[in-house]
Amino acid sequence: EDSRLQAISEAIRVVPHFPKQGIMFQDITTLLLDPKAFKDTVDIFVDHYRDMDISVVAGVEARGFIFGSSIAIGIGAKFVPLCKPGKLPGEVISEKYVLEYGTDCLEMHVGAVEPCERVIIMDDLVATGGTLSAAIRLLERAGAEVVECACVIGLSDLKVRRKLNGKPLYILLEPRQVENGF
Ligand code: PRP
Ligand code: MG
Repeated sequence: EDSRLQAISEAIRVVPHFPKQGIMFQDITTLLLDPKAFKDTVDIFVDHYRDMDISVVAGVEARGFIFGSSIAIGIGAKFVPLCKPGKLPGEVISEKYVLEYGTDCLEMHVGAVEPCERVIIMDDLVATGGTLSAAIRLLERAGAEVVECACVIGLSDLKVRRKLNGKPLYILLEPRQVENGF
């Protein structure tokens, strides 16, 4: 398990100063280029959620789609995309959240989730938790039971605390703070 996590961590490219000065961007596209590390990533989540009676995986656009849909297939759940505004053609409910500069919004199709369904929410990375908090509110407004949020990468205090807004949070790795051979 530790060696799998080590290999996953090493497959994620760290890009300094992207998209702006001072940010060490965690680029998961290089993980996707490594079929073994990508499969191991999905397998770890699938093993964790397999027997938890989860019927929905909700993924946050866009990188949450990549991991979330794979995990949904692995555990036999449906996949529900949580999208940036204006991407979904049907009737939606939406939830705004605050960013460092300005606000953003997530939308979900009405009827995608039935009341009382057990849901996990997937994204690539959690930093402030603003995005996942909005996703939790969206699912709960639809009557779903949010069992846990899951991310490949999360800041160390969240990884240790394993909680977000009182909800369990499952994180594989802390962000790397140094460049790593790409
Ligand atoms: C990144 C990341 C998460 C979010 C986490 O997305 O993919 O969705 O930030 O940050 P938070 O915990 O502080 O909310 P971003 O909003 O940069 O946009 P993108 O996924 O469309 O690239
Ligand atoms: Mg995002």
